Amino acid sequence: MQPYNANPICDNIIMMNTPIQDNETVLQQILSSCEASRLLETKQFMQHGDTNVYEHCIAVARVSCLLADKMGLSVDRESLIRGALLHDYFFYDWHVPDPGHRLHGFTHPKRALQNAMDDFALTTVEQDMILRHMFPLTPTPPRFREGWLLCLADKFCSTLETARFTQNSFVRGFYASEGEMQ
Ligand SMILES: [Fe+2]
Ligand SMILES: [Fe+2]
Repeated sequence: MQPYNANPICDNIIMMNTPIQDNETVLQQILSSCEASRLLETKQFMQHGDTNVYEHCIAVARVSCLLADKMGLSVDRESLIRGALLHDYFFYDWHVPDPGHRLHGFTHPKRALQNAMDDFALTTVEQDMILRHMFPLTPTPPRFREGWLLCLADKFCSTLETARFTQNSFVRGFYASEGEMQ
């Protein structure tokens, strides 16, 4: 594993080990701790439809938690949220043709993982979540249930975004940077 790139802001994420009380509280704590990281840069890049990468990742984190709760699954909640927030941690517009990001669908998980490891100390679960989130497009499945939840939530959100269902007021709540989970 690559040495941790010390960052006092991101230290808060890594050291946070408090009991999980509320998905949205934990999500907002992690987002606050990431304000000085490159996560905010992902607002510059569109993902699907009119949704940028930052909004997409927040929605995927919320839906991942919702799925875990609805299925009654015991998960590492902080890893689930962190892995979801960082699963598309790349810094380019994949819609713009560029030899630097050819075959984006296949290659961006590895790039996102490398970028995330440059900025954060990731758990094994988080690393696997990011690297395997495009399964079955990439053939190796996730090793952990958090990764399976991310796979499902990512595809669900991507479909909503592509179909522009994000204009719906209920769906929009999943994409807000702040606010209560719906
Ligand atoms: Fe992705
Ligand atoms: Fe994604």
